[in-house]
Amino acid sequence: MRVLVTGGAGFIGSHLADALLARGDDVIVVDDLSAGRVARLDPQLTLHKVSITDAGALTAVVRASRPDLICHLAAQIDVRASVDFPAADAQVNVVGTVNVLEAARSVGARVLFASSGGALYGRDAPIPSREDVLPLPESPYGIAKYCAEQYIGLYNRLHGTSHSVLRLANVYGPRQDPAGDAGVITIFCASALAGGTPTIYGDGAQTRDYVHVGDTVNAFLAAADRGRPGTWNIGTGVEVSVLDLVAIIGDIGGRPLTPRFAHTRPGELLRSAVAVDRPASELGWRALTPLADGVRGVYHWIEAGAPDRAAC
Ligand SMILES: NC(=O)c1ccc[n+]([C@@H]2O[C@H](COP(=O)([O-])OP(=O)(O)OC[C@H]3O[C@@H](n4cnc5c(N)ncnc54)[C@H](O)[C@@H]3O)[C@@H](O)[C@H]2O)c1
Repeated sequence: MRVLVTGGAGFIGSHLADALLARGDDVIVVDDLSAGRVARLDPQLTLHKVSITDAGALTAVVRASRPDLICHLAAQIDVRASVDFPAADAQVNVVGTVNVLEAARSVGARVLFASSGGALYGRDAPIPSREDVLPLPESPYGIAKYCAEQYIGLYNRLHGTSHSVLRLANVYGPRQDPAGDAGVITIFCASALAGGTPTIYGDGAQTRDYVHVGDTVNAFLAAADRGRPGTWNIGTGVEVSVLDLVAIIGDIGGRPLTPRFAHTRPGELLRSAVAVDRPASELGWRALTPLADGVRGVYHWIEAGAPDRAAC
């Protein structure tokens, strides 16, 4: 297959590009490098430094490379930035996705879209949240992802396409930016190694569903091989609290991690986990990496200097 990965120089996208290459696919990467890094990419990959907000440039790349499949991961991923700058968020996450869908339409490519399992389901959704719960996002980022999903559903009805949606829970693993503020596992591992004091917002009882990037990549591969459209939660179904993470990282580092507590951040969900029976039955996929093993991998990756080309 010829596969174009938008956001392919990012954390998840670069692992996905590696996995596609490893199974013999032709891979093309589109990334504006706003958060991505060239050093994450296998040197044999072709990178087009293009923004998905530039419809003309994007369509030119897609027409020239004629992919069978577009894995669409390029996004503005900072939830708090989406609250401060909702129009800028929508420009990338909504309009950018429409541009990807139009470019895909011009060559008949199928699209797999990286949506969010953590930001879509509202605070009253049953836990673990199933795909058929009505989304009630708590942020412009969540609204934009939901809106983009609606466009995908519309394109399938209007144009007979087979685009699909993967609602990713909290993905973690090597290459997640330890300097950024996406990824509590990376941040806490970095803090533990530096002998620092990680900050917990709230009492630490808030839960998330942490899914390893290797498992996440396998979900994309499974969805790529399934021709029919669908919407799948990609997570573990297990709630893990911030305090659980602190304990796991303390065990790995051989000394307890002592956090500092700060005020809860407005809009933060108290609980989140996604139901995973649908991807199991429809894609034959489930997360396989035990949390402690995955966190140990992140810890050792940071200990090794957080190399850009670390495997997952
Ligand atoms: N990491 C998670 O836990 C998580 C959870 C749910 C959903 N997702 C989704 O998965 C996808 C990948 O996330 P990630 O964690 O790898 O983030 P990331 O920031 O590492 O990757 C996103 C990539 O998109 C690129 N990008 C941003 N704006 C662009 C634009 N206008 N044009 C072209 N490229 C652009 C960035 O440079 C970056 O390389 C995103 O769509 C994100 O919303 C991630």
